Amino acid sequence: MCGIVGAIAQRNVSDILLEGLKRLEYRGYDSAGMALIDEPGKGISTIKTVGKVANLVEAANKKRASGNLGIAHTRWATHGKITRANAHPHGSSGRVSLVHNGIIENHEPLRQELTAAGYRFATQTDTEVIAHLIHQALENGEASLLQAVSAATARLQGAYGLCVIDRQQPDRIVVARCGMSLVIGDGIGGENFVASDPLALGQVTDRFIYLEEGDLAELTSESIEVWNGGRRVKREIATLSGKAAEMEKGAYQHFMQKEIFEQPQAIRDTLSGRVSEEKVLEEAFGVSAGKIFDKVKQVQIVACGTSFHAGLVAKYWLESIARMPCQVDIASDYRYRDIIVQSGTLFVAVSQSGETADTLAALRYASAHNRKHVATLAICNVATSSLVRESDFCLLTMAGQEIGVASTKAFTTQLTLLLILAIVLGRRNGLASEDEARLVRDMNGLPDLVDKTLQLDKEIRKLSKQFSDKHHSLFLGRGIQYPVAKEGALKLKEISYIHAEAYPAGELKHGPLALVDSDMPVIVVAPNNDLLDKLRSNLSEVSARGGKLYVFADEGIGLESDRSCKVINLPGCPEVLDPILFTVPLQLLSYHAAIIKGTDIDHPRNLAKSVTVE
Ligand code: M6R
Repeated sequence: MCGIVGAIAQRNVSDILLEGLKRLEYRGYDSAGMALIDEPGKGISTIKTVGKVANLVEAANKKRASGNLGIAHTRWATHGKITRANAHPHGSSGRVSLVHNGIIENHEPLRQELTAAGYRFATQTDTEVIAHLIHQALENGEASLLQAVSAATARLQGAYGLCVIDRQQPDRIVVARCGMSLVIGDGIGGENFVASDPLALGQVTDRFIYLEEGDLAELTSESIEVWNGGRRVKREIATLSGKAAEMEKGAYQHFMQKEIFEQPQAIRDTLSGRVSEEKVLEEAFGVSAGKIFDKVKQVQIVACGTSFHAGLVAKYWLESIARMPCQVDIASDYRYRDIIVQSGTLFVAVSQSGETADTLAALRYASAHNRKHVATLAICNVATSSLVRESDFCLLTMAGQEIGVASTKAFTTQLTLLLILAIVLGRRNGLASEDEARLVRDMNGLPDLVDKTLQLDKEIRKLSKQFSDKHHSLFLGRGIQYPVAKEGALKLKEISYIHAEAYPAGELKHGPLALVDSDMPVIVVAPNNDLLDKLRSNLSEVSARGGKLYVFADEGIGLESDRSCKVINLPGCPEVLDPILFTVPLQLLSYHAAIIKGTDIDHPRNLAKSVTVE
């Protein structure tokens, strides 16, 4: 979603800002803008464009934009249409300019109050009230920009990551964090930076200060000062490296494609240090984790989107391996429910980004309202994310940066960790050490199996041509494969825009069978398990109604293609790994179907990588 970059230096920062915005494109946005102060007294020059950052670059080049101080933004519309006027930065009276991530919930009454005080609004955004409030504070005598931002933000309800400049104090940028992540980049020799994601600043620094909730900071070219609750505070500098290569597509056409093919290594990295040849290494969860696990009697998983599907798969593992009840909830629903927490519940939040607003809110809700949770655990791909920092402990997926909006390697590495969690809890609930050894041996073989499955790419590419004229599709799976079918359907709809619905195959005759005809492709995942015979009956139900089946099947079940059924065989694998392995061909199918449909695969319409607003 929205992205922020700011810079102050003794050189022209416009290229740094534009490069930063390009690096944030993966988050999803619809317009972009930049404000610069060139020489003191010369005023703020603002450029905004609708559409891609490339449009802003073109406009900036035309205008020969330059300045030693600047802020920039990619906007994902929440309040007000996608227009040039609504794009950030927003200003007040030519003096203040700011960019904002988040949502101001009390913007309506503030707008009325400010209008009555004589302010004219140029946009439909919630953000503009902040610019006027800061301006008002400055005009009412707040001596410094920092004080004015502090006074203005005290009036706000909602979430914000803010970056503010003042024409009359052209030697500083003031930033504020409440509910949205912001990171300061510590530059070398007379320059400093700020961004909503360190990735945006990879070209200028590898030293970062992660702001905490309620932090206000003032950046000059020579100094960084952080304040919280009116007091100066010290924040550690973290050094990050190795991000640059992850930003390149290399030989791949799209980040999504690259990330699908990175899965064997991502899973290997996720297993590394977490399992030995035959055992889960419990210490990997942290020193106090063992004591926490001893107290767990059931698990509550909360997540959104693809991460939610990972939770749904985990429920089956937690029941069958750990013999523990598990509840899985969509975060946006959980956070507003009158939840009942049984004592001995481990709360697990699953998220690729660790910044998803609903998942974070669910974690905060669980922490604040219920003392009965044994602990909160984050399963996350970003070590520095808010989710990780606010959970009692965490287990990081080692997927590396995931840039494609459609989540792929994050999902399979989440599943890897959730399976490990099931084993660790199972140990305390009767899982024999020889069973653990077998499961861990199976897991160690997973990267090679995924590799083999990826070799189906060519065959799936060919098959995807049959989706070129399709507008609807059904995905079927039974038991633990139902969430896999859901994930397959989500992938297809999100990047190819083909309507896709997933059903537990047993539900077919309770309604969806009415949809089946020759125009409705039915995609089925068919592993070699106890439910296979039942699934075969479901396949017959579809063929009998003229439906066209595409079955991803374990090679061991001996299913053969015929006129109504195209079978693609996957390498045989231990049953416990089925959900991970069967996800891979569905990712490839959606990728190739999207290529045929000609969509913008890494930036599908209306979607953002990290959904940081409710
Ligand atoms: O970063 P998170 O895992 O918390 O994100 C949750 C969802 O927004 C995300 O999985 C979304 O559904 C993906 N676009 C799916 O591909």
